[in-house]
Amino acid sequence: MGRAACAAVEAADDMELVARIGRGDDLQQIVDAGTHVAVELSVPDAAPENVGFCVRHGVHAVVGTTGWDDERLDALRGQLSSSPKVGVLVAPNFAVGAVLAMRFAAAAAPHFESVEVVELHHPDKVDAPSGTARHTAEAVAAARRQVGLAPSPDATRTQLDGARGAVVDGVHVHSVRLRGLVAHEEILLGGVGEQLTIRHDSFDRASFMPGVLLGVRKVADHPGLTVGLDGYLDL
Ligand SMILES: NC(=O)c1ccc[n+]([C@@H]2O[C@H](COP(=O)([O-])OP(=O)(O)OC[C@H]3O[C@@H](n4cnc5c(N)ncnc54)[C@H](OP(=O)(O)O)[C@@H]3O)[C@@H](O)[C@H]2O)c1
Repeated sequence: MGRAACAAVEAADDMELVARIGRGDDLQQIVDAGTHVAVELSVPDAAPENVGFCVRHGVHAVVGTTGWDDERLDALRGQLSSSPKVGVLVAPNFAVGAVLAMRFAAAAAPHFESVEVVELHHPDKVDAPSGTARHTAEAVAAARRQVGLAPSPDATRTQLDGARGAVVDGVHVHSVRLRGLVAHEEILLGGVGEQLTIRHDSFDRASFMPGVLLGVRKVADHPGLTVGLDGYLDL
C-alpha cells in the first residue's frame, strides 16, 4: 500500500513526493522534508506512534492503517486538541465503492429484521475483523438503534467458539482469510421472505489510490479527526 501510495502521489500533477519512510527510518525525515501531508500505511502497532509524531509536528496525516479502536481514537483526539490546526483522516477503507457500500448498508438497515457482515481478505492481513467491517457494523447498528429495532433474531444456544463470528455493536461480523483475495465485504440484510446483499470487491490495490489522493487533497481543510472517507465525500 505504501509503495502504491508513493507511486500515486508521484503520478499526480498537483502534489510532490518529498519523503518515503519505512520501518526503522527516522521520523524526523518527515519534518526535515517540509512535509505538508503524511500518508500512514504500516501496521496497527506502529500507526498511533507515527500519527502522533505527525500531529506533534504540525503535519496533516491521512491514515489507512487499520486497528483504530475507540481507545486509540480517543488518544489521537487528545493529541489533536493540542494541535488544533492539524487534520487527520483515519480511513478504514479508501475504496470509494466500499465507502458507498457502508452508506447504502446504513440506509437499508432500518428496513430489515436481520443483518450480518462478512469480510473476506488475503491471508497476510494481521487484524480481524477488518476496519471496514467494524465501521460498517457500527454504522448499521446506529441506523437500527435510531428506529428502535431489536437485535437480529438468533436462536443459537450452543456453538463452537467463533462459529457466530465477532459481535461489533450487536452486529455479527465474520472474517474469511483466503489466498487469492484482496479486500471484499458483504452486508447481508434479511427480512421475511427476502434478502438484500450489498457487496463490494477491491480486486487490486489500485482501487484504494483515488481515495488516498482525495484524502491528501482535502485533509488540511478538515482540522481535527475525521473517521471515514465519507466525511470528505459529498454524499
Ligand atoms: N484503508 C484502506 O483502504 C486500506 C487498504 C489496504 C490496506 N490497508 C491497511 O494498510 C496497512 C498496510 O497495508 P499493506 O497491505 O501495505 O501491509 P503490508 O504489505 O504488510 O505493509 C506494511 C508495511 O509497514 C511496514 N512497517 C512495519 N512496522 C513498521 C513501523 N514500525 N513503522 C513503519 N513501517 C512499518 C512494513 O515494513 P516491513 O516490510 O519492514 O515489515 C511494511 O512495509 C494495513 O494496516 C492494512 O490493513 C488499508
